[in-house]
Amino acid sequence: MMIPKPTVGDTSWFTQDRFGLFIHWGLYALPARHEWVKHIEQIPDAVYDTYFRHFDPDLYDPDLWAEAASKAGMKYFVVTTKHHEGFCLWDSALTDYKATRTPAGRDLIGPMVDAFRANGMRVGFYHSLIDWHHPDFTIDDLHSLRQHPDRQTLNQGRDQRRYIEYLHGQVRELLTTYGRIDVLFYDFSYPPGSHGRPADYRGKGHDDWGSEALLQLTRQLQPGIIVNDRLDLDQVEGGWDIRTPEQFLPRQWVMFNGQPVVWETCQTFSGSWGYHRDENTWKSVDQLLHMLIEVVSKGGNLLLNVGPTGRGEFDERALDRLAGMGRWMHHHSRSIYGCTAAPEGIAPPADCRLTYNPTTRRLYVHVFAWPMGQLHLDGLAGRVEYAQLLNDASEVRISQPPPHQADVDGPGGQTLTLSLPVRQPSVAVPVIELFLK
Ligand code: GLC
Repeated sequence: MMIPKPTVGDTSWFTQDRFGLFIHWGLYALPARHEWVKHIEQIPDAVYDTYFRHFDPDLYDPDLWAEAASKAGMKYFVVTTKHHEGFCLWDSALTDYKATRTPAGRDLIGPMVDAFRANGMRVGFYHSLIDWHHPDFTIDDLHSLRQHPDRQTLNQGRDQRRYIEYLHGQVRELLTTYGRIDVLFYDFSYPPGSHGRPADYRGKGHDDWGSEALLQLTRQLQPGIIVNDRLDLDQVEGGWDIRTPEQFLPRQWVMFNGQPVVWETCQTFSGSWGYHRDENTWKSVDQLLHMLIEVVSKGGNLLLNVGPTGRGEFDERALDRLAGMGRWMHHHSRSIYGCTAAPEGIAPPADCRLTYNPTTRRLYVHVFAWPMGQLHLDGLAGRVEYAQLLNDASEVRISQPPPHQADVDGPGGQTLTLSLPVRQPSVAVPVIELFLK
């Protein structure tokens, strides 16, 4: 069994819950063409302020958000308190660039935290290290002003140390205003030479955030909080709790320095984190379920993202996907919660993924392509006490291949053979629950 070493942050609940909701919401919901729109289109503040003046999520009701997430089977959520644009969803005392100064006219984080907690979900904050609005954030190669003709002159008046004070001050606000916070998802560091960037790349890393002091503040204010791996403290003992690969599916349990670690992949329904009206690469419910199962089969968590609209709603595409996942989770959450990768030496049959609950000693076979009549699991002969379909608890008979089959396939040996109904159960991904002896 892959057992990551203990983390400084409390990941005991995290590796049980497995499935969370990411929420990317800010002024970028109004242009509705990607949360990086200010960077992509190099929009000057004066123009971008149009969205500030018109940010009026009059239909915002976080109870509806929390209910949709809870019914989808999600157990925690992580919301952008501030994204790279610099706009704050809460009533920060350190800036006027916040929701309370827009037509929204109120703190948007507090009601959201209350609503998700009321649905039994744990609370996480995403907080952008990057800030393309703050007057002291020095203009670098990622900034929306990176190609401004007066970039150097503009930078002369900027002092990153003042920005660091602002950054730490806002984190203090966030971690002392809303009760227990379970996850802090910082985003992100891009120092010269990182991820293929050239040595002369004008990026930012731990010194530009005051990362070690920021991490110490975070853990001091919220003992047990889980902190992600984007403070540029990779090689610092205790510098992070979880690895966070995004927008791809790792091919195996995520490792660091050759050791398995606690990990979570964050993914979008479509090609954008923020609400994107015209982006149509929306994954199907089946694809999303396969993603969830695939991730848990490798000992990871899935943080799946919704970008709410400028009116404050989850759009119908997001609600459709969440409802579809919820229909499957209604019968099959037992194969996700409390589960991890199968014990070493137990390989999944073709077109299947395995998850395993080490507490209940139950192995779950997720069948992505329904086979003809039988399913063979090597190495499990004699080790399974009972088997059933998870959706209706109907028995799946354990059988020995008939002699004429043994003539063709060879003796059963260590192989467990399950007899399956010809017709696939009417669920998106059938799951067979094996009770190990
Ligand atoms: C990347 C994107 C950012 C998004 C984050 C989610 O850093 O640039 O927009 O918030 O991924 O992990």
